[in-house]
Amino acid sequence: MLSGKSILIGITGGIAAYKICELIRMFKRANADVKIVCTPNALNFVTKLTLQSLSQNKVAVREFETENFKPEHISYADGADIMIIAPATANTVSKIANGYCDNLLTSIVCAFNKPVIIAPAMNRNMWENPVIKENIAKLYKLGYEILEPEKGFLACGYSGQGRLCRTDKIFEKAVEILHSSDMLKGKKVIVTAGGTIEDIDPVRYISNYSSGKMGIALADAAKSMGAYVVLISTVDVDKSYNVIKVKSALDMQSAVKSEITDADFVIMAAAVADYRVKNYSRQKIKKTSSDEITLELVKNPDILQEICSMKNNSVCVAGFCAENENLTENAKAKIVQKGCDFIIANDISRTDIGFSSDYNEVTIIDKDGNVTKLEKTDKNRLAKQILEVIYGRNCSDNRELCTSQSC
Ligand code: CTP
Repeated sequence: MLSGKSILIGITGGIAAYKICELIRMFKRANADVKIVCTPNALNFVTKLTLQSLSQNKVAVREFETENFKPEHISYADGADIMIIAPATANTVSKIANGYCDNLLTSIVCAFNKPVIIAPAMNRNMWENPVIKENIAKLYKLGYEILEPEKGFLACGYSGQGRLCRTDKIFEKAVEILHSSDMLKGKKVIVTAGGTIEDIDPVRYISNYSSGKMGIALADAAKSMGAYVVLISTVDVDKSYNVIKVKSALDMQSAVKSEITDADFVIMAAAVADYRVKNYSRQKIKKTSSDEITLELVKNPDILQEICSMKNNSVCVAGFCAENENLTENAKAKIVQKGCDFIIANDISRTDIGFSSDYNEVTIIDKDGNVTKLEKTDKNRLAKQILEVIYGRNCSDNRELCTSQSC
């Protein structure tokens, strides 16, 4: 099941460390290559020999014990497809959340740019400590996959939430992530993000409150699923994929049109201004004695509609729409109006989701009228779910377009 995949398991100093022996066996049975890194304290609970024998690899504990020219933490980070930290003590959770690199395990996590699963285990009072809660929330926000501890009888004699989650759950989550990380391999995904900026004069502009967060989360998710990503954004971001910085709707239109020729998916998450000023003033507009001023606006091109009218069947295009009533009906009308394959509808009457929030909830409608509702969650998680729905539907509708093994 996992042949060709390399799993890096980080074990920290908690009693649940003994349970990781079974997890290693699960990955070995699935034909994965398993490497182990331990904090020095982890070896108080489980021996190096046990872990070495089960993983059939040397167990790393300290930095600077390498014969390799590459630093040890970088070799480990580069060599694995996924990292699992289990059990993750309160100490290690807090260090990761705050960027500490004071041992080999935390240094590897800091250098690791692929999926990381963190399975904390600790005493109930420690789990409920507000500082730990804040650090866990930070890890969620940073995109780590957290498998929260379960309730039950704890080794310290307490009852409550704190036990390491079941090891088969950790195994299943890793398999799910590894499979989804190949889902968009070989596909080019274009995502637009942010609100366009329409200049009035050298110091003034018309724009909107879009933060670009949803578009950026979609681009990140596509990248983590193996796609070649082009993010066309009005927001400055520093990413490992191709980012084209644009300003106005016209800039965005030309970037999308030049990138779309070999694209497989285009997701228009940007909030494109419908109008721009007719006559941009090269000089700063001066205040006059008049109490009123009139700005004449002209319509911007509807990029989504334009690309949909030109596109062939090999590219799948999704647009967003913002509604405050009759979400599904309006979204169904919009998909017809724009001619796209999917519309992702947001309810903008809600203040807890959308525009500048880190959370969102969407309804996805495809061109056949199928409706998929995705529950409220953080934008990173939601982005993955959106891509899974779009990719899955696109594949089932257009089998001949699918070259991926996972179709
Ligand atoms: N869009 C675009 N070009 C425009 C305007 C919008 O490509 N000039 C895209 C957006 O990126 C988004 C979708 O079209 O994917 C939104 O369509 P729009 O018609 O603006 O819908 P709403 O935002 O729902 O607003 P309204 O219909 O009220 O204008």
